[in-house]
Amino acid sequence: MKFLGAVALFAPLVVALWPIPSTYSSGSTVLWIDSNVKVTYTGANDVYGGNTTSGAPLTSQIVQFAIQKTYSTIFEKNFVPWKFHPRNSDFEPSTSNKNFITSVTLEQLVADSPNVVKPLAGEVDESYTLSVTEEGAATVTANSSIGIARGLTTFTQLFFQHSNGGAYTALAPVDISDSPKFSHRGLNMDVARNYFPVADIKRTIDAAAYNKLNRFHLHVTDSQSWPLEIPALPLLASKGAYESSLTYSPADLKELQYYAAIQGVELIVEIDMPGHTASIWFGYPELISAFNIQPEWSTYAAEPPSGTLKLNSSKVDDFLDTLLNDLLPRVKPYSAYFHTGGDEVNANAYLLDETVKSDDTAVLQPLMQKFVDRNHNQVRALGLTPIVWEEMLLDWNVTLGDDVVVQTWLSDQSVANTVAKGHKALAGNYNYWYLDCGKGQWLDFTPGASAEKYWPFNDYCYPFHNWRLMYSYDPLQGVPNNSTHLVLGGEAHIWAEQTDPVNLDRMVWPRACAAAEVLWSGAKDAQGQNRSQVTASPRLSEMRERLVARGVQAEPIQMPFCLMNGTQCAL
Ligand SMILES: *[C@@H]1O[C@H](CO)[C@@H](O)[C@H](O)[C@H]1NC(C)=O
Ligand SMILES: *[C@@H]1O[C@H](CO)[C@@H](O)[C@H](O)[C@H]1NC(C)=O
Ligand SMILES: *[C@@H]1O[C@H](CO)[C@@H](O)[C@H](O)[C@H]1NC(C)=O
Ligand SMILES: *[C@@H]1O[C@H](CO)[C@@H](O)[C@H](O)[C@H]1NC(C)=O
Ligand SMILES: *[C@@H]1O[C@H](CO)[C@@H](O)[C@H](O)[C@H]1NC(C)=O
Ligand SMILES: *[C@@H]1O[C@H](CO)[C@@H](O)[C@H](O)[C@H]1NC(C)=O
Ligand SMILES: *[C@@H]1O[C@H](CO)[C@@H](O)[C@H](O)[C@H]1NC(C)=O
Ligand SMILES: *[C@@H]1O[C@H](CO)[C@@H](O)[C@H](O)[C@H]1NC(C)=O
Repeated sequence: MKFLGAVALFAPLVVALWPIPSTYSSGSTVLWIDSNVKVTYTGANDVYGGNTTSGAPLTSQIVQFAIQKTYSTIFEKNFVPWKFHPRNSDFEPSTSNKNFITSVTLEQLVADSPNVVKPLAGEVDESYTLSVTEEGAATVTANSSIGIARGLTTFTQLFFQHSNGGAYTALAPVDISDSPKFSHRGLNMDVARNYFPVADIKRTIDAAAYNKLNRFHLHVTDSQSWPLEIPALPLLASKGAYESSLTYSPADLKELQYYAAIQGVELIVEIDMPGHTASIWFGYPELISAFNIQPEWSTYAAEPPSGTLKLNSSKVDDFLDTLLNDLLPRVKPYSAYFHTGGDEVNANAYLLDETVKSDDTAVLQPLMQKFVDRNHNQVRALGLTPIVWEEMLLDWNVTLGDDVVVQTWLSDQSVANTVAKGHKALAGNYNYWYLDCGKGQWLDFTPGASAEKYWPFNDYCYPFHNWRLMYSYDPLQGVPNNSTHLVLGGEAHIWAEQTDPVNLDRMVWPRACAAAEVLWSGAKDAQGQNRSQVTASPRLSEMRERLVARGVQAEPIQMPFCLMNGTQCAL
């Protein structure tokens, strides 16, 4: 009882959940949990879920995986929360006379649809309720297996490790009702500027799912390397990867897709084109114009090496036909979408393209329209929905189908302009949600005029976007009320010019958590006010400890001093 008093006095009496649920209440009763606790799953009648022939996970596998993750998180990947209590305090519950969680009941009210792991935005209901009674009965209720998984994720965040062993919560009774604000909550990872082994990508997917993100966008090819194996076009990866072993085989891709899907994360593959394709040249040089022009690469591309798919070439059409026919049937079991890229196309590159020989947008625009139409018609024919970068719509004036999702990155105005044209938009303004910014330049500047001009060598999107800046971003900023429904959500982005497996975790986590909370909970609180850093930071600090405990090298938020006695570091 002495302990309970201590908790009431010192511990911030909020459940440190991340992302924050729509509504919750909690108490201060201690309950322990044993690894033999009985877990019961009551599925809706005739739970089907998934596709038994496609290889994608079924409802039963999703639920089983979520239960296993819950066990491993609570019993093996937990932490002792000394950082969140006053120093020298006796913050841990007594280990005598333990009361336990007596049951964990998972109630799925509605059968999963066959596309449960590959929905279009909004097609899966991820809402859940979670209750834990003082007597120890825990219940998660949801309308889908993914909702059950989301609820169990929240459940794990109620528990701490005890320094004498065992796991407990000091928050019973708990009542939570929760659902996401946005249906597309993504992390975009570039695996082409640097190569990442499958294990690193899986760890990143796992952390994304733990933050209730539900989309993992794999920017899998770019001008610097083509690591994705395409069996019908073997030279793409065998010549275009950085090194012949640094590739993703069809089995690797499937492993990633499955690992994401089973956690309710839809893996979306992007082949960026027509720009950002110089690496195709290594295997198929006849398809690329303006390849690696040096030293004046910047006339032809945003980054070296320059190089773009030719824009009026039947060989390119044949190539794309073969590429998408090979890849998309392997995408389809795990995603409703395929991303056809389209950012940063440089018109100058077509001066050197013998099929066009022009940089005149009046000449290029109809060709770009044909290029996009060809790709999107094939994407649709193969049963998927296209995503494109905003430049195709807003700079190149390409007429897009109503089904196409437009991914914006340049400004809040881009989101507003996209929805004003009636298109569905993804947000992710680079001034807020680009995780690569603020590292400084990766280009080298020659001593003299160039070095002087660029000193102190900031990058184009500096400063570093700390979590507070990311947290201040509202995907709906500047969007008229009558169009907010067209903003499906957004993505945080880790471009990999200066990120490789060594610093991946700390480049992404815990900053991407800030985007995850904005996307799940909304940028504004229930009163319509901007969310407060003061209450977010201890919750995020706790989430950081949980990520570290599960093997993610997430950076610290602040000093333990700031967390040990309520708000001590606010200004
Ligand atoms: C199930 O997957 C198979 C193989 O990918 C596919 O042919 C079939 O159309 C799918 N069925 C449904 C209902 O999605
Ligand atoms: C399930 O669906 C019903 C009916 O649409 C809705 O009222 C409820 O909020 C949903 N979520 C949960 C967790 O029951
Ligand atoms: C595109 O190529 C065809 C021949 O394949 C040519 O007739 C046409 O003029 C070209 N279009 C442009 C805009 O260069
Ligand atoms: C797209 O339209 C805008 C506004 O009319 C124009 O300024 C721009 O040049 C057009 N872009 C292309 C590629 O035609
Ligand atoms: C709330 O956040 C928005 C950005 O999303 C910002 O423009 C606005 O000034 C903030 N309001 C307050 C009161 O801080
Ligand atoms: C838009 O909706 C918000 C929240 O519902 C409201 O506060 C605001 O006044 C509305 N703006 C306009 C222009 O109607
Ligand atoms: C929103 O309102 C504006 C101005 O009243 C109108 O022009 C626009 O078409 C509306 N957009 C939608 C999606 O209804
Ligand atoms: C803890 O915070 C309370 C309230 O702000 C303050 O009165 C107390 O002195 C603090 N304790 C320590 C050890 O700093």
